Amino acid sequence: MPVCVSVPRETAPGERRVASTPEVVQRLTKAGVEVRVQSGAGSSAFYTDEAFTKAGAKIVGERRDVIAAADVLLKVQPPSVEEVGWMKPGAVVVGFMNPTRALDSIASLRDRKLTAFSMELVPRITRAQVMDALSSQANVAGYESVLLGAEACPKYFPMLTTAAGTVRPAKVLIMGAGVAGLQAIATARRLGAIVEAYDVRREAGEQVRSLGAKFLELQIDAKGSGGYARELTAEEKVKQQALVSQAVADADVAITTANVPGRKAPRLIDKDMVGRMRPGSVIVDLAAESGGNCELTRPGETVETGGVTILGPLNLPSRLAFHSSQLYAKNLQAFLELLIGKDGKLVTSYADEILAASVLVTNGEVRYAPTRDLLGAPK
Ligand SMILES: NC(=O)c1ccc[n+]([C@@H]2O[C@H](COP(=O)([O-])OP(=O)(O)OC[C@H]3O[C@@H](n4cnc5c(N)ncnc54)[C@H](O)[C@@H]3O)[C@@H](O)[C@H]2O)c1
Repeated sequence: MPVCVSVPRETAPGERRVASTPEVVQRLTKAGVEVRVQSGAGSSAFYTDEAFTKAGAKIVGERRDVIAAADVLLKVQPPSVEEVGWMKPGAVVVGFMNPTRALDSIASLRDRKLTAFSMELVPRITRAQVMDALSSQANVAGYESVLLGAEACPKYFPMLTTAAGTVRPAKVLIMGAGVAGLQAIATARRLGAIVEAYDVRREAGEQVRSLGAKFLELQIDAKGSGGYARELTAEEKVKQQALVSQAVADADVAITTANVPGRKAPRLIDKDMVGRMRPGSVIVDLAAESGGNCELTRPGETVETGGVTILGPLNLPSRLAFHSSQLYAKNLQAFLELLIGKDGKLVTSYADEILAASVLVTNGEVRYAPTRDLLGAPK
């Protein structure tokens, strides 16, 4: 029996992405995998049932049926407890599992002795780059954040010389120069803005400069393990505030993308700093979901104060659903190549470094310690 891979329609509010695309389905079916797609699964991302059918997928009407048939369930958002209840014994789910928040679903996966791989836990080693869904989606978020900022800003981004006079270019400040921040820099530059950026990791400076932006130098280096940042000390935070405060006051648009994995987002812009910004300025807070880089951010809302607009957008990748789905589907395709052996069967040993790191729950056991701690012992 060939492995059955299923792609249901995502049901989380505002989620337009789909976990696979006709292009990837075609590759899977060519490799002997059976693919089932729920009718309409790709419609919000503009992948039609016809295109999936042409790629070799079987279209299934009911969500329950597509999930129940799966040996491997491909998801964008974590499955609901109800969906976990429909999975068959021995099945595997792969997707963003939200390992510290989707605790009810993870507990049901554990109790039903099912297996889940969490794309958030894929290690950042060279071999896993093709599966790095955090990066592919952060890239989209960085791009979208600039479009939102430009839209909300009452100024041109580029410098213009016209018969009616000269327009000075907008000043855009990018705070946090990781994957999203670097894409935001590149996008704002393409629109012609003057871009400044800063990050607590000093090594980010070279990448920032290579994109044509100015790097704000802070005389500390907060590089932690695995390419991520560590948390700053109290003294370092004071130094950082002074430097940042001036740059924020000068910005027409500030885009914040700073995160420290597993922690609340660092606070970079407080109320006073917002008060020093010029009317018409805009803040786009990409960390809204993890607590916000700006004190006044409200997740999913737009706040206006003293002429400053503060956007706290949620799930930006979903806004660019066609391309974010395309990239995510490729990430999952590469992951499936590890999960389905050369013999066409699901592997049962997760000894491979990437599988070992990303297996969140299997065989009645939660493997990722922070989730295990949050869940406590099974009842
Ligand atoms: N396979 C790989 O080797 C691989 C893959 C992806 C990313 N990376 C690297 O990992 C790094 C971080 O990636 P990410 O974008 O997922 O990180 P992230 O989303 O966790 O954080 C975004 C950025 O915020 C910065 N930050 C944290 N605290 C801050 C503070 N107080 N002030 C200012 N900035 C702060 C971080 O240094 C990071 O650059 C990047 O250097 C990236 O190039 C490596």
